[in-house]
Amino acid sequence: MSRILAIESSCDETAAAVVTDERRVLSNVVATQIPVHARYGGVVPELASRSHLTAIRPVVEQALSDAGCTLDEVDAIAVTTGPGLAGCLLVGLQMAKSIAWTRGLPLVPVNHIAAHVDAIFLSDERGAGAVVPELPYVALAVSGGHTSLARVDAPGVLVPLGQTLDDAAGEAFDKVAKMMGLPYPGGVHIDRLGREGDPAAIALPRPMLGKGLDFSFSGLKTAVRYWLEGARDDWASQADLAASAQEAIVDVLVAKSLEACRQQGLRDLVVAGGVACNSRLRDRMLGAAAEAGLRAHLTPARYCTDNAAMIGGLGAMLLARGEALQGMALRRADIHVTQRPTRRVRRGA
Ligand code: KG4
Ligand code: ZN
Repeated sequence: MSRILAIESSCDETAAAVVTDERRVLSNVVATQIPVHARYGGVVPELASRSHLTAIRPVVEQALSDAGCTLDEVDAIAVTTGPGLAGCLLVGLQMAKSIAWTRGLPLVPVNHIAAHVDAIFLSDERGAGAVVPELPYVALAVSGGHTSLARVDAPGVLVPLGQTLDDAAGEAFDKVAKMMGLPYPGGVHIDRLGREGDPAAIALPRPMLGKGLDFSFSGLKTAVRYWLEGARDDWASQADLAASAQEAIVDVLVAKSLEACRQQGLRDLVVAGGVACNSRLRDRMLGAAAEAGLRAHLTPARYCTDNAAMIGGLGAMLLARGEALQGMALRRADIHVTQRPTRRVRRGA
C-alpha cells in the first residue's frame, strides 16, 4: 500500500488528507474559514490567504497524525493547482512543493473540479459509495464557485458539456439566502427552511431550461429580489420563498443533467460539489434518474464540500498514470487562477 498526502487550499477551506493508492481515506482534516468571512457575507481573498498560512501546517500535521503515519511513510504529495483564488492556491502549492522537494517525493498537480467529480470513488471506514459509476459517465459539479456538466472519460479526463454563464448554483443559493437575511453561507439554510415551505408557492424563472446544457442563475436572483420587495415578511412566506427558489435551481440542474446523459447515451450520472449536499437536489435527482432508467451516484455529503481526500483520490489515479512531477520538473506545477477570482466578494460588497 502506498500513501498520498493531499493538500487543498483553493478557496476558504484549508484541508489535508492521507489517501491510499486504492482511494481509501486514512484521514481527512478540514479547517473551515467560515467564521473569518461570515461578517463580510462572502470570501475576502486576502483574509483567506492569511488564514491558509496560519492553518496549513497544523492541518497537515493533524492529517498525518490521524492517519497514524509520519512524512517518512508518505509516498507522494498531491495538491490542488486550480481553479481557485491565486493567493490561496499558492499557500497549499508552496507547502506541497516544499515537502516534495525536501523529501524527494513525486508531486501530483490536481484540478479541483476533476477531483470533486472523482470523490464518488473514495472509500473509508464508513464504507464506499453503494455502486461506483462506470466510465465514461456524466458528472454534474455544483458548488459555490462552479456549475458544470462534463463527460468523464477517465479519472481527471473531463470533456466539458455545459457550464454556467454567470452565477454558480451555490452562489445563487447563497445570494437568495443573503437577500432573505439568512446567515452565510446560505445554501444549507435554504435547504433547511425550504423543507417547511411549498416549492410551488411562488412562480420563479427556470433560466435556460430546455435550451442546451449551459446554465444561468442571475435572473433567478433578480426575480427573488423583486418578489421580496413586494412580499410579506412572515415566517411562512420565508419558507415558501426558500422552497420555491430551491425548486427553481433544482429543476434546472436535474433537467440538464438528464439531458446530458441522453445526448451522450450514458446511464451513469455523478453529482458532486457543495450543492450536492442539498437534500431536495438529492431526492429529485435520484427519482428523476430512476424514472429515466439512469443511475444517479450522489457523492457522500462529507466529500461534497471542499476537502483534500478528493484531491488525494484523484492524485492516486494520476500518479499511477505517471502524471507526477519530480525534481526540477516541480517548477512546472503552476497554479490555474479562477477566471472570476472575486465572485464572493462582489456578492458581499
Ligand atoms: O464545493 P464547495 O464547498 O466550495 C466551492 O468549491 O465553492 O461548495 C460550497 C457551496 C456554497 O455555495 C454552499 O452554500 C453550498 O455549497 N451548499 C449548499 C448546501 N450545502 C452547501 N447549497 C444548497 N444546499 C445545501 N445543503
Ligand atoms: Zn469546490
